[in-house]
Amino acid sequence: MSRDNETIITPWEVKGKLEYEKIIQQFGTSPLTEGLIKRFKKLAGGNLHVMLRRKLFFTHRDFDLVINHYEKGGEVVLYTGRGPSGPIHLGHYVPWIFTKYLQDVFKAKLYFQITDDEKFLYHREYRLKDVQKFTNDNILDIIAAGFDPHKTKIIIDIRDINVLYKIAVKVAKHVTFSTVKAVFGFQHSTNIGLIFFPAVQAAPCFLEEEITGENVLTLIPCAIDQDPYFRVARDIAAKLGYNKPSTLYSKFFPGLLAGGKMSSSEPESAIYMTDTSETIKRKIWNAFTGGQPTVEEQRLKGGNPDICPIFHYLYFLFEEDDHKIRQQEMDCRSGNLLCGEHKLYLIKKLVNFMEKHRKRREKARDLVDKFLL
Ligand code: TRP
Repeated sequence: MSRDNETIITPWEVKGKLEYEKIIQQFGTSPLTEGLIKRFKKLAGGNLHVMLRRKLFFTHRDFDLVINHYEKGGEVVLYTGRGPSGPIHLGHYVPWIFTKYLQDVFKAKLYFQITDDEKFLYHREYRLKDVQKFTNDNILDIIAAGFDPHKTKIIIDIRDINVLYKIAVKVAKHVTFSTVKAVFGFQHSTNIGLIFFPAVQAAPCFLEEEITGENVLTLIPCAIDQDPYFRVARDIAAKLGYNKPSTLYSKFFPGLLAGGKMSSSEPESAIYMTDTSETIKRKIWNAFTGGQPTVEEQRLKGGNPDICPIFHYLYFLFEEDDHKIRQQEMDCRSGNLLCGEHKLYLIKKLVNFMEKHRKRREKARDLVDKFLL
């Protein structure tokens, strides 16, 4: 948990100003240096993902050890997850695009955990059948991200707990209530399911070693809010004779409204993976920008891409061409480019991207069994 005046980042709540330099300081993670990125680029055969080039993934724990290990011929396993608390939006989906890229680079197995238990325990009003409905729905988006069906296993906690429980109890034995109270802000009024849950989210960190007994390193790509779980997992790894998991953390994907991240609690801030092209157009059209209120002022003063979600979506995802994005940034600042024009440009790319996703999502229905444990 991290509190800095009004900035709150926990696995369940992200609020306030997001200053990523400060976040690195507070969390005590390592910045992703140019040197490290260079080494990784070599390993990736020169193909550096736009999310690394432009630092959507910006900080890590021991990512360098993963690179060392892989360079020496060691095996790397990936682990990421999803808490099924509603439909998937672009902010959830973005790290999965990156995870799929990592799977290709490391030719890696992937464990994808679905924490239906966590969401059931956390949301007072949710019944088990609600989270199970979200689980079935979310799995389609996960599969549509293009993971290798031969190398990817989706673990649904409640369904597959037998696979995790042995590891989870070992973890739980070494983690005290005062630790999780300090790390997650749990109270005496917190239900005991949630108090145990960090052991369940830690379990997949060690699953491959547990199953194979081999010296594999697990790398977890995810958003920075999940760090508390993996801090705890790393702390106890050695005691259990496992390698520490490494992590690679992303920033939050910005929402379409002023400030803040893309969030299910504000549906107009989010592009859902099942939104129709019409809805996407409307949401982008109504989005906040870094522009001026009138065309005249925009031409005169220019816009501010630093605070503009339209620019950020192109920057982090949809405009991979370095030359084009630089040109757009300059044209925005100079007033050459109007927000309306930039929105139309993004809409075209976004609608195209989502159409492809929806097709893969439909096909995913036939693949679910292949991905389940
Ligand atoms: N707790 C995560 C969520 O609420 C789900 C999750 C489980 C996860 N294991 C993970 C996320 C590993 C990232 C990496 O979304």
